[in-house]
Formats: sequence, structure tokens, C-alpha cells
Amino acid sequence: MKLPFFLARRFVAAEDLVGTLPVLRDLQHKGLYTTVDLLGEYISDRTLALLARDAYVDLLRTLAAEYAPTGRPPNLSIKLSMMGQKIDEAFCLDNLRHLLEVARTHNAFIRLDMEGSDITASTIRLFEAVYPDYRDHVGIVLQAYLKRTRGDVEQMCALNARVRLCKGAYKEPPDVAYQNMDDIRARFTEYMQLLLKHARYPGIATHDDRLIDATRAYVAREGIRRDDFEFQMLYGIRPQTQEQIAGAGYNIRIYVPYGERWLPYYSRRLRERKENIFFILKHLVRQ
Ligand code: FDA
Repeated sequence: MKLPFFLARRFVAAEDLVGTLPVLRDLQHKGLYTTVDLLGEYISDRTLALLARDAYVDLLRTLAAEYAPTGRPPNLSIKLSMMGQKIDEAFCLDNLRHLLEVARTHNAFIRLDMEGSDITASTIRLFEAVYPDYRDHVGIVLQAYLKRTRGDVEQMCALNARVRLCKGAYKEPPDVAYQNMDDIRARFTEYMQLLLKHARYPGIATHDDRLIDATRAYVAREGIRRDDFEFQMLYGIRPQTQEQIAGAGYNIRIYVPYGERWLPYYSRRLRERKENIFFILKHLVRQ
């Protein structure tokens, strides 16, 4: 059964780029930065992976033209599993390099989203392979819930890399990931501090007030400038808080997903909060 798109509209900007551009303009008008995610993941066919790479390139060029009058560089969030990571890492590396070459010509920034723990090590390898050549154009995501992450944080601090820190959204077993929210928050806080102190322009990606407040308190205490980091949130989640954070003088970037393959992303957002499941059930019953 294909679920109707209106259910996903709260979290997904549109099913195509034409419908997404007004959303981006609106957010920018409110003083929020954006990163755009063309939805899709886990492609297992080389031809489709090349098509996905070309779709990212097209998106980059369209955003570069769209943003040209504002001077804002395009910012994309991509999934390596969409460009053949699970087929062949070397093939995926070629695709990533191809995309980053285009990114460089547009002064754009490409964030490698972090997916399931089966490809964490591969994602970090691919990032480290391209980072020396594209330091200002590529960044990675680290997930506080993974037990391996402290070592990855230290490694990224040593590289002075740009990291987005989030809790982690995939279902992982207890030997791989902390399951308890207090443990995850404690790890998040520790890594947030390390990244703010030792890495370059980290993205603190959370809607959790306790972690947002902890970040604000830490940067105030340590005298870290507001231009040296940004908050990040997902499109459709706590929009008023997003504007308040921008209004208080912090940089904040909104992750804006779009595309027809929205179901896996949408399912992760539903899983995060049981009220979302009630919302969808209510609407389906009404149909
Ligand atoms: P938490 O889930 O505790 O939420 C705090 C509050 O925010 C809730 O009480 C509620 O008010 C609101 N809220 C949060 N989620 C909601 C939802 N789905 N619906 C309605 N309200 C909600 N993960 C990953 O594994 N790889 C990645 O690459 C990324 N990338 C990424 C980018 C950005 C910009 C963000 C903000 C998040 C990610 N994530 C991610 C997702 C992240 O790992 C995590 O699953 C979500 O951010 C939810 O965790 P919070 O820290 O926001 O807190």
C-alpha cells in the first residue's frame, strides 16, 4: 500500500524539488539556514546508484542557481547507501568524488548522513578518503548512541573535521548502541563539548531542550563564539523553537527532506514519538 503523501507533509517538504523551493525560501526568510536531503537509501543496483549520483549533482546545480542572489552556498545532506556503498565501496568513493568536484565548483557543502551501524565504519572510511581533498566541502555525522562513537569523535577532532552530532535514529542492538535515554544524553553532552572545543564548526542536531540548554550553557561558559557552531533541527519538528533559537542570535540549520521515496525517513520520525503514530492512525481511519 502506498501511503498518501499528505500524511508525510509534516516532515517532508514535497515529493519534488519544485514544491521544495518555496519551503526553502520561507525558512531562509525566517533567518534559518537549510540543508536539503533528496530522500532515498540502500540502493543495490549500479545503474540506480549512478542515477542517484546524477540526481544529487542536478540538485546541487539547481540550488546553486537558486541561492546565487543570496550568496548562500548550497548545503546538501546525502546518503552514501544511495550511491552504491553497499554494492562496492570503491565504486561509491568514485561517485562521492564526482559529486564533491561539482560541490567545490559551487562552494557547496555535502554532509554524509550516518545510517545503520552495518555501514558506520565504511562511511567513516569514505569520509576520511575524501576529506584531505575537500576539507571545506564535506562533513560527517556521528551518532551519540553508538558505543564506538567516542573514538570517532576523537578522530574527527584530530582531523579538525566538521561533524554533525545527533542521538541516532536507527534500531540498533544493545551491544552496539546505548538504549537508555539518560545514557545517550550523557554521551551526547560529552561529545558536544569535545567537538565544540576541538573540531571545526560542529552541528549540534537535536530538538531536546536539555541538550540545547546544555550546549548554550557550555558555549557561554567557555566563551565559544556563536559563529563557531550551529544548531540543527529537522523540518517540521518544533518550528517555533527553531525560530526562537535563530531570534536569540544562534545559527540554526533546518534539514529539509523531499522526494517520492519518503517512507523510510517518515517511519523513523514516527518511531521517535508515539503521538505521531496516533496522528497517522486517526487520519487513516478518517479516510
Ligand atoms: P528527542 O527524540 O528526545 O526529542 C526531543 C523533543 O523534540 C521531543 O520531546 C519532541 O518535542 C520533539 N521531537 C523529536 N522528534 C520528534 C518527532 N519525530 N516528531 C515530533 N516531535 C519530535 N539520525 C541518524 O541516525 N543519522 C543522521 O544522519 C541524522 N541526521 C539528523 C540531522 C538533523 C538535523 C537532526 C535534527 C537529526 C538527525 N538525526 C539523524 C536524527 C536523530 O538521530 C534523532 O533521531 C532525532 O533528532 C530525535 O532525537 P532528539 O535529540 O531530537 O530528541
